[in-house]
Amino acid sequence: NPGTVEKQYVLSIDQGTTSSRAILFDHAGAIVAVDQKEHEQIFPRAGWVEHDAVEIWNNVRSVVAGVLSKAEVNRHQIASVGITNQRESAVVWDKNTGEPVYNVIVWQDTRTQAICDRLAGDVGPDRYKDQVGLGLATYFSGPKVAWILENVEGARQRAEAGDLLLGTMDTWVLWNMTGGVNGGVHATDVTNASRTMLMNIDTLDWNEDICADMGIPTSMLPEIKPSSGIFGYGRKNGLLVDTPVSGILGDQQAATFGQACFEVGQAKNTYGTGCFMLINTGTTPVRSENGLLTTVCYQIGDQPAVYALEGSIAVAGSLVQWLRDNLGIIKDSKDVEELAKTVEDNGGAYFVPAFSGLFAPYWRPDARGALVGLTRYVNKGHIARAVEESTAFQTREVLEAMNRDAAASGTTLTELKVDGGMTRDELLMQFQADQVGVPVVRPQVTETTALGAAYAAGIAVGFWSGTQDVIDNWAEGRRWEPAMKEGERERLFRNWKKAVTRTLDWVD
Ligand code: G3P
Repeated sequence: NPGTVEKQYVLSIDQGTTSSRAILFDHAGAIVAVDQKEHEQIFPRAGWVEHDAVEIWNNVRSVVAGVLSKAEVNRHQIASVGITNQRESAVVWDKNTGEPVYNVIVWQDTRTQAICDRLAGDVGPDRYKDQVGLGLATYFSGPKVAWILENVEGARQRAEAGDLLLGTMDTWVLWNMTGGVNGGVHATDVTNASRTMLMNIDTLDWNEDICADMGIPTSMLPEIKPSSGIFGYGRKNGLLVDTPVSGILGDQQAATFGQACFEVGQAKNTYGTGCFMLINTGTTPVRSENGLLTTVCYQIGDQPAVYALEGSIAVAGSLVQWLRDNLGIIKDSKDVEELAKTVEDNGGAYFVPAFSGLFAPYWRPDARGALVGLTRYVNKGHIARAVEESTAFQTREVLEAMNRDAAASGTTLTELKVDGGMTRDELLMQFQADQVGVPVVRPQVTETTALGAAYAAGIAVGFWSGTQDVIDNWAEGRRWEPAMKEGERERLFRNWKKAVTRTLDWVD
């Protein structure tokens, strides 16, 4: 029909820890269609977690094709593409063949402890904290790349010869989309780069001294770009020929963007595989005194970067999956709520899921999971409740750390914006409000991660005019008010903290 302008959309690719998704958004920020594919979780040894990078790329292609066909939209109707991703997970590949030299080492993987200890030396885990905003921990990408170069036969020589590239999952997807071996764009954004331990947090460029300490040749590094801006265009053998890729953000930063946290002091908490709370701290990086990470929140074009403090919790939804897959207590993740509702309370049971050590605010790699407080009375309903409550207790610990840091600048959180799959769980959300003591607020569109990347991509090409559109489109969906009596609230939290002490010093 000549003369008719076809409706335009923004496509978001969310390459997450358990699945890859493609979501199409319209101008109102509403979801038009979704496609999703899970990938294999590979656990070669205790503490190791890997993904197959080629499987992930194939899944990304498949879900992009899937979402276009579901929505009956063609590639000319895609104004731009945003990419968001599980952060810190690292892959190394050969730029001549496109083949990864090893599986993706996932953010949850703890194999780099010895490398982190070696780097810490006599100085301790905060050796690079001033430069990169992060303490040495197995969580971050740099040491994962170091492990690959040290342990995969021939990798170091190939890296030194300039044949290997490194990337987080955004970089892997972008490089493949934009042509791969035929000139693929090798770039990342400031938010993902801020999770590698290799980027100077103040200047936003690579720190060559730290790269040298980790034995990582600088020829492997992607170019660091703003989160909202043109990265490249889809190419043949890649995806979506000629379509601009104009937004990249790590998934937690994308959710912060999608939740319209553009003012200093605004924060969100995302309940996914793990749980991640970010608070906007404005254009100067704030160093935490309370176990939080200093990270880049976003950067739009040539505007100054905006920073955040982050409380990272390694295990939240993945504990529910563990209950399903490793214990078989439930058939489906959503059944945990029903099971937890079969009992009145936790029956004295507390579950500290320190499966990857403990992240914020403790940063104790030596911790391992514990289920404590058991008596003959405890049944699987109580365990389900302890599982649910563990996410809320961990979130309270992070929020309190955040308030302690924020108190220095005179702000405290007066409500908690939440999103992610687990926020469908009413029992958990009410308990969360009870524990944090402030209202918990969920937006109408809970897919804020994908939405945030879409906004960043759409703003870069003029599909949206700026962050005000994000603010205008944000709408409250549901709110939970704190209702628990103070004494009970504190009793439960005290017991939780006692349970945490039982998980420490486990690994020698
Ligand atoms: O830092 C890890 C985080 O990006 C993973 O997020 O949503 O896959 O749990 P998610």
